[in-house]
Amino acid sequence: MKNADFLTGITTSGTPHLGNFVGAIRPAVATSRDSNLTSYYFLADYHSLIKNHDPEKRCQSTLEIAAAWIALGLDHDNCVFYRQSDIPEIPELTWILTCLTSKGLMNRAHAYKAGVQENEVAGTKDPDQGITMGLFSYPILMAADILMFNAAKVPVGRDQVQHLEMTRDIAARFNHVYENLFVLPEVVVDDNTAVLAGLDGRKMSKSYNNYIPLFDTQKRLRKMIMKIQTNSLGPDEPKDPDTCILFSIYKAFATEAETRALAKRYRQGIAWGAMKQELFEYIDAILAEPRQRYDELITNPGDIENILAKGAEKARAVSVPFLEKIRSAVGIRSLG
Ligand code: TRP
Repeated sequence: MKNADFLTGITTSGTPHLGNFVGAIRPAVATSRDSNLTSYYFLADYHSLIKNHDPEKRCQSTLEIAAAWIALGLDHDNCVFYRQSDIPEIPELTWILTCLTSKGLMNRAHAYKAGVQENEVAGTKDPDQGITMGLFSYPILMAADILMFNAAKVPVGRDQVQHLEMTRDIAARFNHVYENLFVLPEVVVDDNTAVLAGLDGRKMSKSYNNYIPLFDTQKRLRKMIMKIQTNSLGPDEPKDPDTCILFSIYKAFATEAETRALAKRYRQGIAWGAMKQELFEYIDAILAEPRQRYDELITNPGDIENILAKGAEKARAVSVPFLEKIRSAVGIRSLG
């Protein structure tokens, strides 16, 4: 197995939703099918330990996310699709990197700073109240995920850019102190990737609870789409597509020509009820087949386990020998 041209992790919390599909899954599926590229995609279940302390929820989310990625066409034969916790070399590398990372660097991490700020606003005595070492050192685990496979490019959302800078810092430190073993990864933030609006118009996100699950029943999908906020313009009144949540969601799925044709109908006047029905039908047509595959996978989790086991085997063909090299570089090696 080759080192990663592309690598990215998906934290196993929550149910996969339409926003995940257009933002992360769809572009990753396309890359996974490119036979000229070696891409690594993994379920970041160690990362999910940070915020969620409910074992059943973690397990269920891992199952749903794995099933969703496979059902939506991830080419798991061509890429490396694995579960982080199946790769014991990652936590070992995390410790080695932890011992090289200055605490000051972690003090500057956005997620940690946001936690401290929340405490300050709430007026708690201890600014670190409720903040675990997991949250504090999260960027080091992420650095280990990336450096373990010497990933060249890491596609992520904007909120993760700082973590990539930290990864480069940590890698450079290792290379300087011990031996030049790590590639400094490049962050890839694609501005063309759609950011989907949720039911209330803010970014579709688990934290805002404004999301539409990818694989609910057809009936529930329709019901969710009917809930999307619109304004009070009447059926025949001309409407502005550019400020409409329904339109922006449609645009993330449809072709350019289809989008242009719909914009015209907006300006001529389109009833909200009709538009919602149309959006439902459009998305439902895309999801119908994957939904069937998803339901099959969810009821046969053994099939998912087999796919993940194959992925772990491919990943460990890289991580086991590379960790040996890293251990040797730091002076943890056989004495005889
Ligand atoms: N922290 C990332 C997120 O919340 C998930 C993640 C974990 C990740 N390890 C990674 C992303 C390594 C890219 C590379 O989105």
